[in-house]
Amino acid sequence: MKRSEVNAAIRHAEAFLERQHFTLPPFARFAPQDWAELDEEAMEIADAGLGWDVGDFGLGDFKKFGALLVTIRNGTLEALRSGAGKVYCEKIIVMTPDQTILHHFHKSKTEDIINRAGGRLELILHRANADGGFSSDEVTFASDGVRRSVPAGGVVRLEVGESITLEPYVYHQFRAVEQTVLVGEVSTVNDDANDNFFFDGVPRFVPIEDDEAPYRLLVTEYAAHYRFATVQRKGY
Ligand SMILES: [Fe+2]
Repeated sequence: MKRSEVNAAIRHAEAFLERQHFTLPPFARFAPQDWAELDEEAMEIADAGLGWDVGDFGLGDFKKFGALLVTIRNGTLEALRSGAGKVYCEKIIVMTPDQTILHHFHKSKTEDIINRAGGRLELILHRANADGGFSSDEVTFASDGVRRSVPAGGVVRLEVGESITLEPYVYHQFRAVEQTVLVGEVSTVNDDANDNFFFDGVPRFVPIEDDEAPYRLLVTEYAAHYRFATVQRKGY
């Protein structure tokens, strides 16, 4: 994916979020050069992967198949294992009209996907088979405290304010319909490097081709700019 596309997507998301009166944490507003000035007190930002995460699944058509996320908070796998401390994660996702996040499931993470503002969000759900394929079984889930189910491949529509709880091994593909959507994600600790299983085998993180200078660093790029980063997140 080209840096110019990443920069444009981030600028578009920032303008959209401002219109929605949603203000991101300070780390999401750092310029790339700010990272060289940060001391080790800021290690959690890099190690928890807080900040911008933009990709096109390697398909080269970001407007159709892409994801722009900001990880706002994220705990550690150690906390999750012990059940104490920061066992949770929060993200936002800005999805433009007709943009799709492809079918994937998680083996560990349970996540609520929340339509916070904008237009309608549509999800397509399948249960995952033991071999990672689509099961023909119906999918049962909770939506704002109400138990619901859809047949395999069924569509769930979330209007603004509505949410769905996606448990592990539930494939989900989702798409913004007609308008840009501010999607919230509240989940257990997120391990994007190891807990995303895409039906089509597409990569979660993609290499960025620098056709212009970065406007914001992506979470995969901190280790190269911040000397106290201890976690290496590969861009591909
Ligand atoms: Fe997911």
